[in-house]
Amino acid sequence: MPHRRFDRERSGFRSGNFMPLPFAPTAKKPKDQRYNMNRRDFLTSAARAFVVAGGGSAWAGSVFATETPPRLAMPPIIDTRASGKLAMTAEVGSSSFLGGPAVPTAGYNQSYLGPTVIMQNGPLAAEIGNTLDEPVSVHWHGMKVEGDHDGGPHQPVLPGTIWKPDMQVKQDPSTIWYHSHIHGRTAQQVYSGLAGVIHITDGRDDDRGLPSAYGIDDLTLVLQDRSFDRNGRMVYEPSMMDRMHGFHGNRMLINGQSGAVAAVPNGIVRLRLLNGSNARIYNLFFSDGRPLHLAATDGGYLPQLVALDVLQLAPGERAEILVDFSGASAPVLMSDPNQAYGVLEFALDETLSARITSLPDKIGDPLEELVGLDTQTRKISLDMGMGMMMGGGGFAINGQPFDMDRIDLKVALGSVERWIIRSSMVAHPFHVHGVQFRVLSEDGLPPRAENTGWKDTVFVPGETEILARFEHPANKENPFMFHCHILEHEDAGMMGQFTVS
Ligand code: C2O
Ligand code: CU
Ligand code: CU
Repeated sequence: MPHRRFDRERSGFRSGNFMPLPFAPTAKKPKDQRYNMNRRDFLTSAARAFVVAGGGSAWAGSVFATETPPRLAMPPIIDTRASGKLAMTAEVGSSSFLGGPAVPTAGYNQSYLGPTVIMQNGPLAAEIGNTLDEPVSVHWHGMKVEGDHDGGPHQPVLPGTIWKPDMQVKQDPSTIWYHSHIHGRTAQQVYSGLAGVIHITDGRDDDRGLPSAYGIDDLTLVLQDRSFDRNGRMVYEPSMMDRMHGFHGNRMLINGQSGAVAAVPNGIVRLRLLNGSNARIYNLFFSDGRPLHLAATDGGYLPQLVALDVLQLAPGERAEILVDFSGASAPVLMSDPNQAYGVLEFALDETLSARITSLPDKIGDPLEELVGLDTQTRKISLDMGMGMMMGGGGFAINGQPFDMDRIDLKVALGSVERWIIRSSMVAHPFHVHGVQFRVLSEDGLPPRAENTGWKDTVFVPGETEILARFEHPANKENPFMFHCHILEHEDAGMMGQFTVS
């Protein structure tokens, strides 16, 4: 089984390319990326780690102080497999986090976030309602459907109306997601809670030896940082700096919960990780140094597990990892070996049965290669111009800020294209609608381990080449988007659109 060490240089950590974390570093500097802390110590230092430098330190929060932290809950499930139907309504909510005062939020069928939707290949008739007083949408991020069903900025669901895409699901088993995608409003709406996870399944995970019991040995984890003021109120007030670097919070929410502990059986557990944050990039590792066995990237399974010390996850990306929780104690999932902070604490629960006790040797078939099939090369530059420094503008792709009425690229249906993507000034996570692509190279080198599978979003520290086959049509009324998935950048114009015909 290949084992990769964290490559700082290639992960975008070179100087000037990575914004400083607003989190204060923990008191103990990690040595060799390992921690030796008992749980009490961790709670204390985690509480410190979660306080933003110079910001919310006056408000200590309550969750970390309690003796028995709450147990992490999974989002409720909507299983569409029997009915072929999916009904969801965007609604306003009121949520209180960290024991603070309630704030207005939004969600699908609930007050913050949305259900986990289980899908299989075949017809799926969705009905998306909207009881908010502003347009929202449901973009199926990672789904390979035609432009008419994509749920992007051209398919707003107006207040009081219902959007009814009649879709055909046809893709590999994977963890994808959905979120609102109204141009200029995406950052605010996703921050408020308009997002959720999708599992595409073929029902064969038992044969693969993969954990699949939802909430028991198969956990769905939506990672989001949110900003809390000194009264414990969740706020979204992006400053000029936030617009430039993307909005970063001062506390972690997992599935909309803070300070909750994930209970796991004493065996192999699958974690489906979604970076649902507006801008934060996670470099995930375990406090005791145990490996993260990467099983799937955005678009589906890898042929076999890849053991990682650190897994990078940029906004919009997903990863499925297997973790071996057999042993006497459970570690904490942390982020950023350089300035560590706690993301999620785990605890062993002996009442949960460990269904899978060894890591599978092989998961999927060898991946289909697209190398050499490309007939068109395009250069995509993710631009932050000088205008931005002066207080607005400057976010663009190939020099042009997003325009709903301009088609930037026309792609031939069924063709394979090579796109060379370049980040300017800061590293950007790049996402393409309507496809899953392969990463051909990163700065002239073979892709990093986390980018070796099917992807729809890739973090671009420098120059990244991708290969995609465009199999789903999109006309000029309902084109596909390509954009930076730092939501503040996307809203400010770092987005383009293309047709496939
Ligand atoms: Cu996750 Cu264009 O979106
Ligand atoms: Cu998308
Ligand atoms: Cu960006």
